[in-house]
Amino acid sequence: MPPNSSIIITGASGSLGAAIALQLTALYPQKYHLILAARNISSSHSEALSQKLTAANAPYTWERVDLASFASISSFTNRIQLGLERGQVRPLHGLVNSAAINNIPVSKTEDGFDTIYETNVLAPVLLTKKLAPLMKGGVVVNITTVAHELGEAGYFRERKSDLDKELGTELGLKDMLKKYGSSKLLLIMAGYSLQREDSFRDIKVISLDVGGMTGESRLAPKMPLVLKVSMHVLNFMRPLANMFNPATINPPEVPAKAIAEVLGDSEKAIGGGHYILDKVAESNAISRDEEKQTENMKEITSDLGKWVQ
Ligand SMILES: NC(=O)c1ccc[n+]([C@@H]2O[C@H](COP(=O)([O-])OP(=O)(O)OC[C@H]3O[C@@H](n4cnc5c(N)ncnc54)[C@H](OP(=O)(O)O)[C@@H]3O)[C@@H](O)[C@H]2O)c1
Repeated sequence: MPPNSSIIITGASGSLGAAIALQLTALYPQKYHLILAARNISSSHSEALSQKLTAANAPYTWERVDLASFASISSFTNRIQLGLERGQVRPLHGLVNSAAINNIPVSKTEDGFDTIYETNVLAPVLLTKKLAPLMKGGVVVNITTVAHELGEAGYFRERKSDLDKELGTELGLKDMLKKYGSSKLLLIMAGYSLQREDSFRDIKVISLDVGGMTGESRLAPKMPLVLKVSMHVLNFMRPLANMFNPATINPPEVPAKAIAEVLGDSEKAIGGGHYILDKVAESNAISRDEEKQTENMKEITSDLGKWVQ
C-alpha cells in the first residue's frame, strides 16, 4: 500500500535530518513518504542516507532547496503544491525545519539578509507559511537548542544597517553563540506566533530542543576548539551527565526518535509547545513574551515581503 501522507525534512543530508528520516522509517514503516530537502542532493551524505532508506524499502524523494534564497524556497513550495494538485505528492502531514547554519564569517544572502538570519529564521518561517495552507492538520517541528537562552530578540535588527561593513568578519566564541542563539530564539518566538494565527488552527507548531548531540554535524564549519573539547569531555561523561539532564549529550538518534514520535503521534503533540527531547518544557522568558513574539513576527513578515503575499 502506498504511504498515506508525506513529511518534509529540511537539512535531510545533515546529521539530525538523516537520523529523523531513519527513525520515521524504523517506527512507522511505509507510513510516510519522506521528502528530503537539501541544498546538495547528490552529496556523499545524501547518497549515504539514500542507501539506508532504499535498504529499508522506505518511500522517499530528494528535493533541492537553498534556504538562503527566497526564490529557491518559493520554487520548492511551488513544486510541492503542483505535486499535491496532481496527486504525485501524498497529502502533507509534517514539516521538520532541521536545516541550520552556525559560525560562518558574516555574510549576506542574495536577498540582502545576514545568512544565518535568513537560513535559521526567515527560511523556516517562509516554508511554514507557504506549506501550512497545503496541510490538512499535521505538525510543524522547529528544531531549537538551549543556546536560545543566550540570544537577543533584537540581535539581527540592530545589526542590519552595519551588515555590509561587517561582511567577512569571523566571530569569537561568545558572539558566535549569541548570534546562533538569537536565531533560535527568534524561531521559537515565531512558532508561538504562528500557532495563534487562524490558518494554523488545525496544525500543531512545536519547537523541539534536541540537546547536545554527538555525531558528524557540519553545523559550524569552524567549530572553536574549546567547544570541540567540551563536546568530547561531555560525550565521555555521558552516562553521568545524562543522569542529571537527559538532554546533555546524545547521539542524533535520541532526539530524532523524539521528533519522529511527535510526528507519528500527532494527536498527542502539544500545539504551541516547546519540548526538550520528548518532554514539554518551558523555553526562556523572553521567548514566551506574547508582545515580543508579535513584534518579532511583524519584522519577519516585513523581511519576507512579497514572498509571503
Ligand atoms: N549538532 C548539535 O549539537 C546541535 C545541538 C542543538 C541543536 N542543533 C540543531 O539541530 C539541527 C540540525 O543540526 P545538525 O547538527 O544535524 O547539522 P548538520 O549536520 O550541519 O546539518 C545541517 C543541515 O542544514 C543544511 N543547510 C545549511 N544551510 C542550508 C541552506 N542554505 N539550504 C539548505 N540546506 C542547508 C545542511 O546542508 P549542507 O549539507 O548543504 O550544508 C545540512 O544538511 C539544526 O537546526 C541545529 O541548530 C544541533
